[in-house]
Amino acid sequence: MRLDKCLADCGLGTRSEVKSLLKAKRITVNGKVVNNGKVQVNPETDEILFDGEKIQYEEFVYIMMNKPAGVISATEDNCHKTVVDLLNDEYRTYDIFPAGRLDIDTEGLLLLTNDGILSHNLLSPKKHVDKKYYVKIAKPLSENDVKTLENGIKLEENFVTKKAKVEVISENLHENGDNQVYITISEGKFHQVKRMFKAVNNEVLYLKRVKMGNLSLDENLKLGEYRELTEEELDGLKF
Ligand code: URA
Repeated sequence: MRLDKCLADCGLGTRSEVKSLLKAKRITVNGKVVNNGKVQVNPETDEILFDGEKIQYEEFVYIMMNKPAGVISATEDNCHKTVVDLLNDEYRTYDIFPAGRLDIDTEGLLLLTNDGILSHNLLSPKKHVDKKYYVKIAKPLSENDVKTLENGIKLEENFVTKKAKVEVISENLHENGDNQVYITISEGKFHQVKRMFKAVNNEVLYLKRVKMGNLSLDENLKLGEYRELTEEELDGLKF
């Protein structure tokens, strides 16, 4: 594999950060300084040092899935199929888990990985990673509802939602089911979106996550389909 990919996989930074490390002559391969990221290395057999310290190579996998309804965001479950069950055998050797949860009836963007640090960063409340959802709701929102949703709602004794963004896509004043909005939140409390709409006397009829941080759901993925992230997508997710 390419040295720059190997270094990035080891958590030394994005491809461009790794390039700077190489330029600064901080990387050696088998005792020689290497400043070209294109050089092919075998992390199992080559000795790769960063500032004189051996790097630990672990292969990380990053998968974007369009989660279907009916499967749960877990690694195993006694009753239901899990998102990990949807992966094919090639991924069985990795300890892949979903980075975050979507409810059983929620569809859309789910990241699966074996990279605990990236997952932790994405989910940490301190990092405020935005999550954007497409929502069908039972009734149109009033201007006041939008303001309330955006400015914060007390969902629990000690929990008021942070600022959110609501974008109305379409409204149907007479019939159910055609009131569509996007809502972007930076938190991930249990059933948060459903509870936020309930708090303004509305009801979520359908929920789909379309974006998380810089990562957008690939609309070519049908429900239940998945693919590995591109390098660009992965770089966009790193902190
Ligand atoms: N909010 C919810 O209510 N459910 C989800 O699955 C995700 C966010």
